[in-house]
Amino acid sequence: MTRGRFIVLEGGEGGGKSTQARRLRDHLEAGGRRARLTREPGGSPLAEAIRELVLGSWPEGIDATTELLLIFAARAAHLHATIRPALADGIDVICDRFVDASYAYQGAGRGIAPDRIAALEQLVLGDLRPDVVLVLDIDPELGVRRIAERGGNNRFDAESMAFMQRVRNAYRARAAAAPERYRVVDASRDVDVVAADLAAIVGALR
Ligand code: TYD
Repeated sequence: MTRGRFIVLEGGEGGGKSTQARRLRDHLEAGGRRARLTREPGGSPLAEAIRELVLGSWPEGIDATTELLLIFAARAAHLHATIRPALADGIDVICDRFVDASYAYQGAGRGIAPDRIAALEQLVLGDLRPDVVLVLDIDPELGVRRIAERGGNNRFDAESMAFMQRVRNAYRARAAAAPERYRVVDASRDVDVVAADLAAIVGALR
């Protein structure tokens, strides 16, 4: 059986990723494909439990290394329980955030060296890589305004503008370094326009 396609949506806060992920799933299913929507941190019962730990607030705080390791632990569980079985079954997986978020948030945001993240990526992913990473790019000033309208809900929503800028720049730099696997999409536009762009990009994949 042909393996499903592994499609990742990334980007900073307020770019409409989760809405676009749902729309893309609906679009693929309407076209007769089997598609599974999932997210990180989370995406399986164990990984969702780890998500509660990592996005929660703790009296002692969470240091950057603990955060990174919890996120990769959740990712290993998610790959094992959800992503690999679905791909092997020929199902397209649409994942709301994946490894690039660790480079952007824990790496550029928190200052963890990229080679440390790469070592965990190698350990947890082996040879698996997304077929395409769709980066929903948005000026953090605008993204944060959108989040404020719907009410921020986790520790990351409260990070500084400088943090958000580093996150954005990291996504753009990673996309520029591997243009065959990344597409940067202007997420400040109307949601229908963005959705049509994403559908066209995914339609052109194998
Ligand atoms: P979520 O509420 O799903 O935010 P969003 O709607 O912006 O995706 O929370 C996920 C948060 O986890 C998000 O703020 C970014 C963070 N995160 C990391 O810091 N590193 C990671 O590897 C992943 C997958 C997420």
